[in-house]
Amino acid sequence: MILLNPGPVNVSERVRKALNRPDLCHREPECAELLQGIRQKLLKAFLPGAESEYTAVLLTGSGTAAVEAAVLSSVPHGKRVLVLNNGIYGERITSMVGVHRLAVPELKMDWTKRPDPEQLRLALRQHPEVHVVAMVHHETTTGLINPVKDIADVVDSQNRAFLVDSVSGLGGEPLDIAGSHMYMVAGTAGKCIQGFPGMSFVLVRKGFMERMKSYPKRSWYLHLPHYYESDQVASMPFTPAVQVAYAFNEALDELLEEGVANRIQRYKKASARIRQRMKELGVKPFLPADHQSNTITCFHLPNGLAYQTLHDRLKEQGYVIYAGQGQLESTVFRVANMGALSPQDIEGFLAAFQKVLEATTVRA
Ligand SMILES: Cc1ncc(COP(=O)(O)O)c(C=O)c1O
Repeated sequence: MILLNPGPVNVSERVRKALNRPDLCHREPECAELLQGIRQKLLKAFLPGAESEYTAVLLTGSGTAAVEAAVLSSVPHGKRVLVLNNGIYGERITSMVGVHRLAVPELKMDWTKRPDPEQLRLALRQHPEVHVVAMVHHETTTGLINPVKDIADVVDSQNRAFLVDSVSGLGGEPLDIAGSHMYMVAGTAGKCIQGFPGMSFVLVRKGFMERMKSYPKRSWYLHLPHYYESDQVASMPFTPAVQVAYAFNEALDELLEEGVANRIQRYKKASARIRQRMKELGVKPFLPADHQSNTITCFHLPNGLAYQTLHDRLKEQGYVIYAGQGQLESTVFRVANMGALSPQDIEGFLAAFQKVLEATTVRA
C-alpha cells in the first residue's frame, strides 16, 4: 500500500529489515551505543555545526509525547506559555498547557493565515509572565508553513524561550534551529525521517536544559531533565522501544547518506508534481502556493465527490490519502508525499486519482 498520509510513512526495505536485529536488553552496552548513535545522528542532521550547543532527548512515544515533554518541562513557577495557533496541532499545544493552567490567551488565527510577528511582540509586552512561546513549524492540518524565522526573531528579542513543534517538518523543510536560537524542537522518527512510529525526540539547547533542571516537574514520565541525566550515562530512564530504535538508527543513516537538503528537494519535487497534475485536472489547492509545505497538499474536494468515496476508490487501487480535520472534514482532502516514495509511486497515484475522477464525473 502506498501511504499518502502524513505518517506513518512507507519505509525502505533497509529500514524495515533493521527491525529484525537481535533481541537486546536495554541495560546492555549495545543498547546504550544504539541510543547514543541516534542522538548524535539527530544533531548531525538537524544542527550541523552546532552539535555541541544542543542535546537530543529520545522518548518512546509518538510525536505528541515529544511536544508535551517540551511544553511541560519548560515553565518555571509562576510563568506561562503563549501559543500561536493556526491549526489542529497548535490547538493541541493550547490544550496541553490548558490542562496545567499554564496558558495566557493564545494568538489564534484562521487556518489559512500565518502568525504576525508584530502582534506577537505586542502580546509579549503585555504579558511579562510569558516564559515560553510555542508554535508549530509545519501545520499538518492544512500543509501550511509558519514563518519560524520571523517569529523566532521576536521571541529572541523579547528574551523568551521558543518551542517549535516540528513533528511533521524536520527532514522535509529547512529549519535553522541554532541560527534562530530555538530552545526546543520536537520531532518524530515516523514522518520525514522515514522510520517507524513509536519514538520521538526533543532537540534542546544545552544552556536551557541546565535551567530546566530547577523548573517544576509537571509529568513523571515526560520530564526532559530526567532523560538528560540518563543521557549523560548513555541510557534512557525507561524501557525504550528497542526494535523501533534499530529502525530509527537505520533511517537516520539513510537520511545522512541522502543528505537533508537533498531529501527536502526530493519532497519538494514530488509535491510540485502532484500540484501541477491536480491543477491540470481542475482540482484546487486550499492554500496559496507561498504558504504550502513540501510534503502535504490540502485540496478542495471536487464538486459532488465525497471524501469517503474518493478514499475508498483510491485504496482499492493501492493508495491511501488523508481526510481534512475539524471544520475542513467534509470539504477537503490531503495528499502527503513523505516517506520512501519513488516518482513512479507518485505517477501511479495520479493515474489512479484521474481514474476515480473520471468515473465519478461520468456517473454524476
Ligand atoms: C505538527 C504535528 N504535531 C504533532 C503531531 C502528533 O504526532 P503523533 O500523532 O505522532 O503523536 C502531528 C501528527 O501528525 C503533527 O503533524
